[in-house]
Amino acid sequence: MSGDRSWVGVVACPFRYMLRDQRLFFVMIGVSISALVFNVILWSPAPSHERISDSFQSAELTHVPRRITLEVHTESGHINNAGGKMPLGLKSKRLRILVTGGAGFVGSHLVDRLMARGDSVIVADNFFTGSKENLIQHFGNPRFELIRHDVVEPILLEVDQIYHLACPASPFGVVATLIRGTRFHKTNVMGTLNMLGLAKRVGARFLLTSTSEVYGDPLQHPQAETYWGNVNPIGVRSCYDEGKRTAETLTMDYHRGLNIEVRIARIFNTYGPRMCIDDGRVVSNFVAQALRKEPLTVYGDGKQTRSFQYVSDLVEGLMKLMEGEHLGPFNLGNPGEFTMLELAEVVQATIDHNAKIEFRPNTEDDPHKRKPDIAKAKDLLGWEPRVSLREGLPLMVSDFQKRIFGDQEDIGGNTLSTA
Ligand SMILES: NC(=O)c1ccc[n+]([C@@H]2O[C@H](COP(=O)([O-])OP(=O)(O)OC[C@H]3O[C@@H](n4cnc5c(N)ncnc54)[C@H](O)[C@@H]3O)[C@@H](O)[C@H]2O)c1
Repeated sequence: MSGDRSWVGVVACPFRYMLRDQRLFFVMIGVSISALVFNVILWSPAPSHERISDSFQSAELTHVPRRITLEVHTESGHINNAGGKMPLGLKSKRLRILVTGGAGFVGSHLVDRLMARGDSVIVADNFFTGSKENLIQHFGNPRFELIRHDVVEPILLEVDQIYHLACPASPFGVVATLIRGTRFHKTNVMGTLNMLGLAKRVGARFLLTSTSEVYGDPLQHPQAETYWGNVNPIGVRSCYDEGKRTAETLTMDYHRGLNIEVRIARIFNTYGPRMCIDDGRVVSNFVAQALRKEPLTVYGDGKQTRSFQYVSDLVEGLMKLMEGEHLGPFNLGNPGEFTMLELAEVVQATIDHNAKIEFRPNTEDDPHKRKPDIAKAKDLLGWEPRVSLREGLPLMVSDFQKRIFGDQEDIGGNTLSTA
């Protein structure tokens, strides 16, 4: 009898019955329908796929299924998925961006540009070679966060893009000498794995800052991205060179195997304000030596060549790469080629005509030539450097002057001539 009465209740007032006696069942149905609608509408293919270079077996990449969330409008009017998850119908112009190594030289300039664009930026840095001073201009800005974090340890953050820069840029600097070897590998291997893991977990786009050192002592000149390199796997530089090569491999494996959106930049020698003064790189060495009235140390015969890119050009290239649709790898460097002796002359002309040059035995495996072929970046990213060495060097010198001598007006006769 009681069963009969309940059927009468269903017929007479079905909504009351639904809400009361079968509540859980209908709630479950509602949740399932919402989940289905949400996934079908938001799930869409990757914006594009490209044929990757010969060095990665020229495989045609398959579509990368992912949520299109943050739309970035490019100059060509193209709309890109900038990575990350965002609820249905919402279009955000502001991205949440993680910059690992953002307290360093390149990272801090990148952060300046991202902040100026209106993005929210989180910097994760362990301050090995970077410094809070480089980011002081953003302290107190609600869109900026600085976290002391070693990328060797995992971290969970909700972000749309990850610029992965964390790694000392030279194995020969004062700090690098203290941490070299296994520490470089841990940073490049475990650090990159952790950041790729984060990208996978939150659906972020990942950009690796690799290096021209992956070409080693190159047998091809200039170096195009298709060149596989000539690296000594057991030399004193290999902790850096091979570490970055492994980081590139991991990046491509995460892309191919797990559909992570990735970008790879191969950066050639870059200089500019905020460079670590004692990091062992040739431009910072020469500039600091000339300002301190010390001889410029040239290793070997000084005929080995390098190309020098001003930091604003690099940052422009990194951002174009991140926002563009091609994963790379892309050479980002200035193709202007200088011997070490020519560079020393430019430094003399800019800082001190009387600076002496002192020759020292060369370091092991020092590359004889380095010059980027940037045809691919020109063609696919619409990028090329604009600042010449003679224009950029004085900007770096005035920054070094302030940091070496403080605000003293008279710095012992070091008058900067703009050559
Ligand atoms: N500047 C160049 O000429 C050049 C050339 C080729 C490649 N790169 C690459 O670009 C990136 C940035 O270089 P840079 O010139 O700004 O160097 P940098 O040393 O000034 O900056 C590196 C930053 O990473 C941080 N860092 C290092 N290890 C870390 C770790 N385990 N966890 C968290 N933070 C860590 C440092 O504290 C520093 O702030 C590096 O990956 C470097 O290999 C730079």
